[in-house]
Amino acid sequence: MTPLPISRIRVSFPPDAGRDRSYEVVIGAGVLHSLGELLPIALGRAAGRALVVFDESLPRDLLKAAHGALAEHGIETETLGVRAAEGEKSWAVTEAILKALANARFERDDPVIALGGGVIGDLAGFAAAIYRRGVPVIQCPTTLLAMVDASVGGKTGVNFTVGPPGGELLAKNLVGAFHQPRLVVIDTSTLRSLSPRHLSAGLAECIKHAMICGSVPGPDPGLTDWTRANVGPARSLDQGVLGELIARNVALKARVVERDEREEAADEAGGRAFLNLGHTFAHAVETLGGLGLPDGRPLDLLHGEAVALGLVSAARTARVLGLCDLEVEERVRQMLEAAGLPSAVVGLPEARALLTRMSHDKKARGGVRRLVLPVGVGRVRIVADPPEGAVEAGWDAVRG
Ligand code: GLY
Repeated sequence: MTPLPISRIRVSFPPDAGRDRSYEVVIGAGVLHSLGELLPIALGRAAGRALVVFDESLPRDLLKAAHGALAEHGIETETLGVRAAEGEKSWAVTEAILKALANARFERDDPVIALGGGVIGDLAGFAAAIYRRGVPVIQCPTTLLAMVDASVGGKTGVNFTVGPPGGELLAKNLVGAFHQPRLVVIDTSTLRSLSPRHLSAGLAECIKHAMICGSVPGPDPGLTDWTRANVGPARSLDQGVLGELIARNVALKARVVERDEREEAADEAGGRAFLNLGHTFAHAVETLGGLGLPDGRPLDLLHGEAVALGLVSAARTARVLGLCDLEVEERVRQMLEAAGLPSAVVGLPEARALLTRMSHDKKARGGVRRLVLPVGVGRVRIVADPPEGAVEAGWDAVRG
């Protein structure tokens, strides 16, 4: 059998105090076994030891593979298992990672390796960003969502509770730092241990990319049609399709973040904010309880599932505002269905409560809500302060 190709995508950033901050994303089946060889190259020097922060629920052989790959190159490992639940993305767990680093007397050059999904990457990345004012972090994502989105671009952080006693809201990613990884190692074979539901959740971010691919730098206009045709085969873990899916999505994300590292670009510039398509809606519902699928099964939304709903709501809002026609919402729904994702739920609060929750989204700049909305298939723009009626209509589009 011909071995599957390994893709290498370079993410380029200007140097800081003479240090090159560019890094490589290495994608392929089995590349985790090369971690020990890749690490010193990425660090630009020999590595003596590393702290591996890993998802406790990962199969033990994956952890062993990472450990073995490092040991083979003389790199000693400390390990810390973390539960990969959104509730664990907290200050308390960050502190536990910082304690592990401090107790083992880690120095400025000793790297932290994140082995797991987005929760692990965000936590380990944040601890690495603030321990001794910044130590190297290596992202080894094991979920599709973390592979195509969270592991690239350097956003790290934790959730934080805000509001007066009795009226607290959990604000997603409110406290954090930009801290680019030194290396990202994406072993596509790790997806074999991912549940079908989590695989679908990752496809939501790929569908989001397919909906913005014509509006970002270095556009990949064929991505929408390709995604539509390939979400099905990706679900059956076809390694060739997964390799291409991940490489094209990482390439898109890389081109966006390297031009707008800190999400500061002007609204019309096609910056990092475009990656928030569907997310302002998603953040308003993803920590809600009491939701269910239209057939009555209860549903505690995963991030990707909330993004799926957000993509539909954004398409409907845009249509009500006359920004795009029905085709956009239909395309989104088709892709979500092919990906096994929900496009409607029961149990949503009334629109007013949802609008309040949206205004707590940290992406609301200066109190004015900004929404990324589609203006065609694969094209988006930012709309400042959209009329509330249109946003309410967006929520109606996902009521089952
Ligand atoms: N997940 C969106 C971003 O990295 O900017």
